[in-house]
Amino acid sequence: MKRNGWYKCINILIHEEKLNSAQPSGLVKKTYPAEVYLNGKWLAHNEAYISVFDRGFMFGDGIYEVIPFYKGIAFGLQRHLNRLSYCLNEIEIDLDVNTLREVITEAVSRAGIEDKDGAVYIQVSRGVAPRTHYFPQDAIPTVLLYGYPVQLEGFEKKQASVLVSKDLRWHRCDIKSTSLMANVRANNKAHAMGLDENTLVRKGFFTEGSHSSIFFVKFDKIYTHPEGPHILSGITRKIVTEMCRELNIKVVEKAVHIDELVEVDEIFLTGTTTQILSVKSMFRKEEDIYNSPKKGKITAKLQEAFIELTRNSS
Ligand SMILES: Cc1ncc(COP(=O)(O)O)c(C=O)c1O
Repeated sequence: MKRNGWYKCINILIHEEKLNSAQPSGLVKKTYPAEVYLNGKWLAHNEAYISVFDRGFMFGDGIYEVIPFYKGIAFGLQRHLNRLSYCLNEIEIDLDVNTLREVITEAVSRAGIEDKDGAVYIQVSRGVAPRTHYFPQDAIPTVLLYGYPVQLEGFEKKQASVLVSKDLRWHRCDIKSTSLMANVRANNKAHAMGLDENTLVRKGFFTEGSHSSIFFVKFDKIYTHPEGPHILSGITRKIVTEMCRELNIKVVEKAVHIDELVEVDEIFLTGTTTQILSVKSMFRKEEDIYNSPKKGKITAKLQEAFIELTRNSS
């Protein structure tokens, strides 16, 4: 019986792959950016080096941020800088994020995305110091930043199949830390099964995806995990909840239990490059536990409003 479920899953995936040859949202062929900003200098990517004693390398002792650009215009820049500042503060790295504004603008032009869709990646580690577990007092933060093109158009045409796994992360998921072992391991597990994302469950309740926030639609209301130490304060999550208010869609910030899936009408994921992605199926181990091949009304409405906001406003 178990095997049947699994073969069904594989068949759906193969069928989907044939049907859907379009590039997935958020993904263009990954290449190195031509130039990166490292500690005050713009360098060719293959000439940019950090010390083996950088604490980002040694401990994953750092923070990162990703800012989206629609046709070269930043979307939610201040919110992203605020989150970066919050996270740096939480891990006691002293850096004024406003000093990065000009570099961010330069990253967009150096990446050749002034009139294209793309993103700027920022990473700040505590810097170089002899290896100690405690924070060294005099380390100078290492700052890495670069721009790159991203396929942001067409996300509304896609639907995702996701895995459901135990959330094995720490209790400070609100910190956008470069220590992402639990996230990359979870994502890799989904990827190896041909799935798009791994959605995480803590004590039976959905928290978020390995690199996305998660929303459920039940009886015309939207449910999402409340802010706090068990999720990242997603910028897109916040924008979606604000859009819901304008569209008179009720949002309940309450975690959904895995046993409630039977009552769920729609599921979608959100994220800076994911944007709003409809979920059509969910698998736990080898079992198919949610199936909704047709995109839901509320997801479609929010996607439409999101396109309007990112493309036609400002
Ligand atoms: C764990 C996690 N949750 C949620 C998100 C979505 O956050 P945002 O909408 O700010 O990109 C991300 C994005 O990378 C993430 O890594």
